[in-house]
Parts: sequence; C-alpha cells; structure tokens
Amino acid sequence: MCGIIGYTGKKEAGRIMLDALELLEYRGYDSAGIALSDENGGRTRVAKCAGRVKDLRSLCAEKDVSGHCGIGHTRWATHGGVCDSNAHPHQFGAVTVIHNGIIENYRELIEKYELDGKLLSQTDSEVAAAVLSRFYQGDPYAAIRKTVLKLRGTFAFAVLFEDIPGKIFAVRNVSPIVAASTEDGAILASDVAAIVPFTTQYFVVPELHVVCLSGDGIEMYDLSGDRAQIEWMTVDWDITRSDKGGYPFYMEKEIMEQPRVIEETVRPRVKDGRPDFSAEGIGDDVLVSCRRICVIACGTAMHAGLVGKSLIQAIIGIHVDVVMASEFMYNDPVVDENTLVIAISQSGETIDTLEALKFARKCGSPSISIVNVKGASIARASEHVIYTHAGPEIAVASTKAYTTQLAVLYLLAARMAIARNLWDEEQTERYMSELLRVPDVMEEVLARKEEIHHIADTILNARDVFMIGRGLDYSILLEGSLKLKEVSYIHSEAYASGELKHGTIALITSQTPVIAVVTQEKLKSKELSNIKEVQSRGAKVILLIKGKEVLEQEKIWSRIFRLPVMEDEFMVMPASIVLQLIAYFVSLDKGLDVDKPRNLAKVVTVE
Ligand code: M6R
Repeated sequence: MCGIIGYTGKKEAGRIMLDALELLEYRGYDSAGIALSDENGGRTRVAKCAGRVKDLRSLCAEKDVSGHCGIGHTRWATHGGVCDSNAHPHQFGAVTVIHNGIIENYRELIEKYELDGKLLSQTDSEVAAAVLSRFYQGDPYAAIRKTVLKLRGTFAFAVLFEDIPGKIFAVRNVSPIVAASTEDGAILASDVAAIVPFTTQYFVVPELHVVCLSGDGIEMYDLSGDRAQIEWMTVDWDITRSDKGGYPFYMEKEIMEQPRVIEETVRPRVKDGRPDFSAEGIGDDVLVSCRRICVIACGTAMHAGLVGKSLIQAIIGIHVDVVMASEFMYNDPVVDENTLVIAISQSGETIDTLEALKFARKCGSPSISIVNVKGASIARASEHVIYTHAGPEIAVASTKAYTTQLAVLYLLAARMAIARNLWDEEQTERYMSELLRVPDVMEEVLARKEEIHHIADTILNARDVFMIGRGLDYSILLEGSLKLKEVSYIHSEAYASGELKHGTIALITSQTPVIAVVTQEKLKSKELSNIKEVQSRGAKVILLIKGKEVLEQEKIWSRIFRLPVMEDEFMVMPASIVLQLIAYFVSLDKGLDVDKPRNLAKVVTVE
C-alpha cells in the first residue's frame, strides 16, 4: 500500500507531486506529504499532514514548496496511527525518506542503533531513515547498500540527500517502484498510474537495485555497485481513461465501461472462432498436462477464481482448488509439477498472492497469472501471463477487473476443453458465440440502471443484508456481498441457501433484507424453496432471476429484477453488474466516499 512519487527536472516539482499523489491516493489515504530538495544544498523542506491529498494541497498553499526535485507519499497506516508526525516523508539528519512496505525488524534496529528517544514518529519507516542517516558519509550508494543489508521486510524507498540537490535515489525489495525519463528530467512512482501523464516508456526497478534520478536521466546499479541495464517497457493505457469521464465516481465509470473492456479482453484472443493464447506463448501442453488446478488470489480476484473453479470442474472434470492467498502458506499447500497454479490479481502486486505464487513455483508448479497491470510483480513472477484489458481501475472496489478476470477464465476453460478434445465444433461454436455476446447483454443491464437504483433504495437503511443462492449463484453473491460491505458499510453475508437452515436462519427477521439470485436451471426449484423459507420468517426478498418466466409459486419477492437470458454458465456476467450497481447506489445515496471507503487501499502490499 502507500503511494510513492518522485520527480526531478525543469518543472515545478511540488505541483507535479500533488497531482500525482491524487492519482495514487487509491493506494492509501490516511496522510500525505512531500519533500523538496533545496537547490543550494540547504535543509530539505517538508510539508505533510494527516488526511487526504486535498488537505496537503491546502497546507502547501501556505508554505514555500517551490523547487524542481522532490518526493511525495500518500499513506495507508500500518505502524503508528493516523497523525501528522507519522505522515511521510521522514527526515533524519541529512536524509529525507518515503517508504512503502514494512520493516519487520524495526524494534531490533531501534535497540541496535540506540534510537530510542530520538525518533519523532511511531513508524518503522523513520527507523530506516535513521539507519540510512547513520551510514551516510557522502556516498549515497554505499549508505543505501549498507542500510538495505540491515533491513528485514518489504520496502520501496525514495530518498533525498541534503547535500546532493536535484537527485533522487531509490531502492526496493518486493514493494514496487517504476521509473521513467520525462522530456525534461525523470520520474519514479509506486505504479504506472502516476507516470502515464508523462510518458508511455517506463521500467520496473529490479529488486535490490539502486536507481538515481537526475535532470540528466537515470542510472541504475546493483548492490555490488555494478552498473545495471534498464529494461524498458511500454504502457498501453490511454490517459484519457484515467479520469472520471463525467461520472461522479470512478466506481460508476468503471461499472459502465464493462461491455467495452470485456470486448477488448476477449476479441483479440479469439481466432477462427476459438480461444487462442499463442500471443501469450501459452501452448496447449500447459493446459493438457495438468492433473489439477490451484487458483490463488485475494478478495474479488479470489471470487473470480471461484467462478473459474465451477466452470473448469464442470467442463473439464478436473479438480480445482481456490485458495485465499493470505492463507495459502499456512495450510501446508500441496502443489507440484502436475498442479497448474493460476494467480489472479488486478494490481499484480498483492503480496500474499505474490508470495504464494513464488512458493508454488519453487514446488515445480507451472503457472499462469491473470493480471491487469502490465509488468506488475505477479506477472513477472509467473511463467505465463494473461493480461486483462480492463485499463486503469481507480475505485478501491473492484468491478471491471473482476468481470475481465472472469472473461479470461471463460476463455481458458474453453481452450482447455478444445485442447483436451472434449468439445466438438458445435459445442465450441455455441460457447464462444455466447461469450462474445456478453458485452451486449451487459449493455442491456446497464441501460436499466435506474431500475437497479430503486432496488438499492430498499436496503439503504438496513443494518444487515443476507444474500442467498446455490452453485454459481452463491459464488457471485460472495462477490456481491463483499462489494456491498466495502462501499456501503452495511454488514452483509453471502450464504449458500441450502446452509441457512443449519444455523444462520436464526438471524433472519423482517428487518433483514435478503437478496436472492436464481440463474441456474438445475438449482432453481431448490433455490425457490429456500427463498420461501426466509420469506416465511418475514424477510423482504429482492429476487434477481433469469428471464421472464412466470413463477408458479405465490409471490415470494418484494422486488424483482429479471436478468437477460444467457446460457446458465454465463449468467454470472449480467447478475454481477446488478450486484455492483446495488452496492454503488447504496454508497452513493448514503453520501459516502464511494471510491475511497474507510480503512481500505486499492493495492495491498503488506501481509
Ligand atoms: O489487486 P488484487 O486483485 O490482487 O487485489 C485483491 C483484493 O485486495 C481486491 O480484490 C479487493 O478485495 C477489492 N478491493 C475488492 O473490491
């Protein structure tokens, strides 16, 4: 978590950093700060405060933040509460530091370097600044090398040395840093979103390499002091896609973009009516040889994995585990060369997913990652990568990343079926034409946005909401429930409807709205019976059901949304949009900060 920016060049660094921090704010928004190098080698100037970047802007309006070289930070608090003194940058002696990550041995370092009583904050980051300051005797590379060797944990640091004006030094371990040359200088950031306004050419700073940015360009050295080659990459995000496009919040804009980004994710991977991953270098051998699949992911990405599991088990008939990446290492994972590991991550930086993937690779597992951000750590750590073409997802609540992850899983399942000779022409044609129809069906649902808004009104004042369904319906409700909790702060639980009677139904009263999803023909009659059960306990039921069929049972719903008809396995797509919009409208109508829910950050780079 935490957003990092650094700029040196001919322009005003303060303005550039504040704008960039706004783009990076989704990584954390507990506090923000900037530091500007003094061009005459005087004291580095710092402005920082608890709160959002807009608060920092107001503070900067009262301070001298002129200068052409600086570093900036937006924080998601880990060590030390949310207050001005814990905001970054941290100054110690001649060094000024911003940090993303966690220094696990910070207590030992305080003791070893007798820092007790000398620190102004409760952060692990200031401890690192103090150690760096102690080692700094005029050679920044030597000081950084020595410091890094003393640290245990994850870090991305950007550093200003008072007596080296105009230069920014940076180093990282696990936590990401990307850097780029601009037309008049150089820039670095925790992710590409902040550098896209300047250039499309960038590189990912390799782990444990020290980069130095100056007005003359960028130099990079490894920890032995040898000059290292920079591997440039091209970002293909369109900058105009990073604004709100007239919507009040990114979440709404990103929900509305889904038909287009699904199209952009699927179309290029369909050749002669069949899914094709040759551009990704994924041959059929990888898909045919595995005996089982293990999906590792967190949050929404894990929920996408659950849908993938149902699809692959149903179509291919091999066992698929979906493991919460944050739990993977603690359950003695059984993965080997016969287990295809699929890591799913929008950001490609979620540390739990990254660590789980690295572990699986050490066990000999072949791996494919499904990632949205090009060149991200998870993409680089896996054998193969399939990029979702969702474009920048800025709202903390993931929407379009989820459905593009699903789209890739639909393609993968089909390619596996073809590679394993499980399908004839007709089956392939039927499945693929349904997949290609998804964007149009999504448009149909989006056109009924106001209808969904009215449905959302019915749960606006609820304290608890239950969501019930079976099979695939249950999987998408897990995601729908996460979405509602995340942006509306309403407690909600997705429950497999057959499980309710094993205890949870005790919580159902007339005050507990229940959202029920019924899209799977083979499960319908059981699902409808389960709905009757909650209705009999007084619950008001919001029913999302496939098609226009007249239900024979007496009316069991307070509200009904009839979903456009697709083959059962594709109903996830239209149903997800309805659930996303319900969460969005509840948050909007409660007057909450939809894009930046409390306590959260978009990218989770701490374990
Ligand atoms: O970047 P990732 O896809 O790896 O992120 C995983 C989760 O942190 C993420 O999906 C989170 O659950 C979302 N905020 C949910 O909307």
